[in-house]
Amino acid sequence: MSFVPSLNADVELKTKSYIRKRITSLSDLEANIPIYFSYPKDDDSNNNFIVKLQVKAAGGVGEESDIVAFNQYCTHMGASLKGRYNKIHKIMGACPQHLTTFDLTRHGMVVSGHATASLPQIMLEVSDGEVYAIGISGLMYGFSQNPIPTVTPKIDKVVEKKVTKEEPPKKILKIKKETKKNINKDLIYKNIARYHNISFLQFENILKIKTDDKLIKHYMLSNPCRIVADFTSDKTLNTKSYKFSTKPFTKIRIGSHKAYYRVVITLDKEYSYKTTVKDSGILFECY
Ligand code: FES
Repeated sequence: MSFVPSLNADVELKTKSYIRKRITSLSDLEANIPIYFSYPKDDDSNNNFIVKLQVKAAGGVGEESDIVAFNQYCTHMGASLKGRYNKIHKIMGACPQHLTTFDLTRHGMVVSGHATASLPQIMLEVSDGEVYAIGISGLMYGFSQNPIPTVTPKIDKVVEKKVTKEEPPKKILKIKKETKKNINKDLIYKNIARYHNISFLQFENILKIKTDDKLIKHYMLSNPCRIVADFTSDKTLNTKSYKFSTKPFTKIRIGSHKAYYRVVITLDKEYSYKTTVKDSGILFECY
């Protein structure tokens, strides 16, 4: 068994409280082709990637010290970096949101862009031709402290299910699935704003987005707590912000991306939320 070699003695490797989890076999790692896996917990907010860089790297394992693993989410605002590995420069990025790039040969250090923190590195160990995750150096995006599972997962079963080269994108925290359960109140909404064909209405802890556009995905981010919702669109919307005076909502920002527009609803503190489709609108109910 060999422990992780490091080129940087200043990096503190805290591995004591993390589980040891098999990720893959050395023989399954192809040069410059990342494999995605979850660690330390088996859910989408704990996604990471492992890659054989073919050049020596800080924290790298294997005969060439060129196998490294990192968390999959940008440390700036949590965008998924999946599919953004650059094999020429051995960097992850540019991030799809604000173009940060991370140097995978130097502990995920920021090369350029908005992020200020390195990509959290998954500490690895090789034993009998198998690669194991044994800890994390750095704070994963969206957490005040990295999650520590209390029960060791059944490794072989998990790896079969989770380690794929093409797992579906994105996670995130505290999402409750759409429910058809009616909110049994005759709600009298207050009009907050209207922008093109999109209306924002509020009733206490419920924000209703009324539009004919299709909701593609939604998720919650922390610090500050905000709900992100993406809708299909063939139009370009200039970025616009609206401030709220009624809690829990403090701000709405709307802006165009390539084939969709994004609504970001900022909340005054941490919440969970659920969505309901009702009366040609999407209801975001915080609790
Ligand atoms: S989210 Fe990645 S640079 Fe902003």
